[in-house]
Amino acid sequence: MMCLGNEPAGHRGCIYLLLLCVTYSSLCLQVQCCRQSTEIVSAARMPYRVKVSAGKRYAWCACGHSKKQPYCDGAHRIKAPSISPLRFTPEKDRMVMLCACKETKNAPYCDGSHFKVIFQDLVKSVKGIFK
Ligand code: FES
Repeated sequence: MMCLGNEPAGHRGCIYLLLLCVTYSSLCLQVQCCRQSTEIVSAARMPYRVKVSAGKRYAWCACGHSKKQPYCDGAHRIKAPSISPLRFTPEKDRMVMLCACKETKNAPYCDGSHFKVIFQDLVKSVKGIFK
């Protein structure tokens, strides 16, 4: 860790946090580069709470370009041709949280990954302050 000398102990914590943010934001830039190549975008920062019906087929938007979130409207054919919607059929009627950030590892359901997206937004904001 870098020590800047005679700053108060509280400020040292801020510097460590800043270094952590800068390191993390450079990782975020790498993630964005990957995202551009796959053409996936985050539709929203929080999941969609929707009611699904047993036996009905749904097509969850995996690319984030649909205007009928969280479901597919065919936008991937033009905006993200390499991405297909995820089709699923619930076994029973229930309320579910469908992912909107498109970062979930448990598609189509939210797994909390949107907190990572929110944190990335925060890092970008902090970075903007220190430009
Ligand atoms: S909205 Fe994508 S993981 Fe929660």
